[in-house]
Amino acid sequence: MAEILDGKLVSAKIKEEIKLEIEEIKKTSGKIPGLAVVIVGDDPASKVYVKNKRRDCEEVGMYSEEHALPENISEEELLGLVKKLNEEENIHGILVQSPLPKHLNEDIVFENISPEKDVDAFHPETVGRITLGRYNFVPCTPMGVMELLKYYNIDMSGKECVVVGRSNIVGKPMALLLLQANGTVTVCHSRTKDLGEVTKRADILIVAMRQRQFIKADMVKEGAVIVDVGIHKKDDGKLCGDVDFESVAKIASYITPVPGGVGPMTRTMLLKNTLTAFKFKSN
Ligand code: GUN
Repeated sequence: MAEILDGKLVSAKIKEEIKLEIEEIKKTSGKIPGLAVVIVGDDPASKVYVKNKRRDCEEVGMYSEEHALPENISEEELLGLVKKLNEEENIHGILVQSPLPKHLNEDIVFENISPEKDVDAFHPETVGRITLGRYNFVPCTPMGVMELLKYYNIDMSGKECVVVGRSNIVGKPMALLLLQANGTVTVCHSRTKDLGEVTKRADILIVAMRQRQFIKADMVKEGAVIVDVGIHKKDDGKLCGDVDFESVAKIASYITPVPGGVGPMTRTMLLKNTLTAFKFKSN
């Protein structure tokens, strides 16, 4: 039976470190790292995410502010707020919650966030920097996965690392980070022929395909490390991931649970990125 990669435990430890660091910053400089979260409209899931992000900030002693804007706000007004936040001294990180209403161009909004405050790591400059290995920020989910693997001393060097999913937020940056850690990296996706043949090659398998319990035991090599980025609600109301946990856990060496695996790590990496942004400004 696989050992659990406990994201809840590891994220709690990292949060404690962040909290201590913020206390020290407050003591020595009188300043507080700050995050601004912008939410447009009334999407219930987005509201929950934003509430959680603010609660996380509070837990570690970080300043946060929320800008809740009406659904029908114009792009010009939203960009006006982003530009104002770019200049605010007490704001070190800016996050505009996605998805935005259809009439707003998300790419343009993200591009207008100052790269120095780009804690989501969605700005094209940040993306370019990640590709070059000269980055300040990495998107929170792939960064959380790397921290989780690091905590359990899982070495990626020379290993077959397979990423299922090619999104800009998870799959692509995930592949780049694994490559930087000297993994032999394969990215596969919905158009990949014989997906199971490719996933079965993996020593380390990262699944971010948004398909409920898609990865079964016969698609996994014995002893593989399994990281499940997916989250879905089952018919009985319980949560599950992209991996069929029950069968895969029997043959894997390590596996992330859902919930309690990647999710808490992602949330904590936002705090880490905001702290990095603060330090970046202070140096
Ligand atoms: N919506 C869901 N996840 C995210 C995220 O990580 N960042 C932003 N900006 N929006 C999201």
